[in-house]
Amino acid sequence: MKTVALVTQKGGSGKSTLAVHLAVSARRQGAVAAIIDLDPQASARLWAQRRAKDDLAVVAARPAELPRLLVEARQQGATLVLVDTAGHADVSADAAIQSADFVLIPCRPTLYDLGASAATVDMVRRAGGKKAAFVLNGVPPTGSRADEARQALADILPIAPVEIHSRVAYSDALNDGRSVEELEPHGKAAMEIQALYNWLTKV
Ligand SMILES: Nc1ncnc2c1ncn2[C@@H]1O[C@H](COP(=O)(O)OP(=O)(O)O)[C@@H](O)[C@H]1O
Ligand SMILES: [Mg+2]
Repeated sequence: MKTVALVTQKGGSGKSTLAVHLAVSARRQGAVAAIIDLDPQASARLWAQRRAKDDLAVVAARPAELPRLLVEARQQGATLVLVDTAGHADVSADAAIQSADFVLIPCRPTLYDLGASAATVDMVRRAGGKKAAFVLNGVPPTGSRADEARQALADILPIAPVEIHSRVAYSDALNDGRSVEELEPHGKAAMEIQALYNWLTKV
């Protein structure tokens, strides 16, 4: 079982969006995927309630419950657990980082997001030897923002080779409890999410 924490201090960076999309992608490729939602706002849990299928376990929990829930997930045969966290609660971010095999830090290519990621990187460093990477999310379809962000982040942590662009499909899919792969299976968003998931299976 692989545990991937989605962490960053900045709200709106795409933690919940990527958590649910990666979970669906994993499921579609045969993994047994679950999401543990540590954010009191419970975006992932609410998405699951809007979802017509119950092919994914999505559990809202407090940070202190995380170790026990991960043991249970393993016992129940989960192969991938995504841990979604709150934008600012250090407790949930810390718990998620401690329990994770891999920490994914979504970051929009804006100065504000790049700056906010420093606090998250500090938390990852304090956890000692955790595997982690940034993933650029909400990248404009044109322009050089992604390249500039890559340069700014390059010496800090690895950056996922796959960029997630800003596309209405992501918010449309979330609104009705689906993923872009279910909304537009051959669309550009579906392709990039599959590519991100495939990369994640190899790190
Ligand atoms: N790549 C994207 N393209 C378009 N909208 C996005 C994208 N990523 C996130 N969003 C939208 O941005 C908002 C914030 O994303 P969310 O995943 O909730 O962030 P976080 O969980 O980090 O606070 C949501 O409304 C979501 O639909
Ligand atoms: Mg969220």
